[in-house]
Amino acid sequence: MDGVNDSVVSDFVLIGLSNSWKMHLFIFWFFFVFYMGIILGNLFIVVTVIIDSHLHFSMYFLLANISTLDVGLSSTTVPKMISDLFTNCSIISFPTCMTQIFFIHVVGGAEMVLLIAMAFDRYTAICKCFHYLTIMSSKMCASFVVVAWIVGIIHAVSQFVFVINLPFCGPNKIDSFYCDFPQVMKLTCVDTYKLKFVIIANSGFISMATFFSFVSYIFILVTVWKRSSGDLSKVFVTLSAHITVVILFFMPCMFLYVWPFPATSPDKYLFIVVFAITPVSNPAIYTLRNKDMRIAMRKLGKRVVGSSGIL
Ligand SMILES: *[C@@H]1O[C@H](CO)[C@@H](O)[C@H](O)[C@H]1NC(C)=O
Repeated sequence: MDGVNDSVVSDFVLIGLSNSWKMHLFIFWFFFVFYMGIILGNLFIVVTVIIDSHLHFSMYFLLANISTLDVGLSSTTVPKMISDLFTNCSIISFPTCMTQIFFIHVVGGAEMVLLIAMAFDRYTAICKCFHYLTIMSSKMCASFVVVAWIVGIIHAVSQFVFVINLPFCGPNKIDSFYCDFPQVMKLTCVDTYKLKFVIIANSGFISMATFFSFVSYIFILVTVWKRSSGDLSKVFVTLSAHITVVILFFMPCMFLYVWPFPATSPDKYLFIVVFAITPVSNPAIYTLRNKDMRIAMRKLGKRVVGSSGIL
């Protein structure tokens, strides 16, 4: 190997942003508003759950953990993208790019596990309600959280080991706003056929797992429907929030990873769903649909306003 072609690329250029000045302004405001919403909304959920002892149930602990991950997930990409809007050409160094990919997958993988845990929690609460508190003990809930992080790390590392040593020998333009496995692998100068298979199998597997949590919600609905005649609509209202969150997370992931190498790249725009709309949907959906959450937030809101009034 005489060095000309071996890993000469030290930076990637993200060319996802169009050159239009109006488009930049639009994207800036869009992401700025959503990112603020994501941070404030999700942190408010976390603080509410921690402070209000009426919410000390596994469902709310899981919700607070999902909120934390939502903040993390959008923070992997959105701040960098917003700052890139000010410099016209967005360059990302190789190590930064790899770090970004790594955290996207750790946090994304962990969040998927928690969405499944949430489905399990709802299943136990509705279909096995007499045993709910023994099955979903605080120990169980904590182990779900630990397992989620472990799965996230394994999921990221198991793909990462294949990609970190790939040779990049020339092309360095990524037609996207951020780095991820599919985009980066298009630029390598070796045949990535097997590697694509690894990535698709890995991310596809974890996306499918989320799909099963969706199926389990259907299962809950059917169980309730069989057991009692009248209550279905009430349960459906409760579960529709969970189902919406799962679909919002699951659908873009299917497109990004289960068919990640299409001829054209719609993934550029799925970015908006994954890193802006899905993370904001959590606080929006859960606070609007859940009565206990609304009451707790109102109480906390009053307390904040009250204490600032005294000061
Ligand atoms: C996450 O879940 C754990 C275990 O149930 C809980 O103790 C912790 O408070 C939760 N984290 C947040 C940020 O709410």
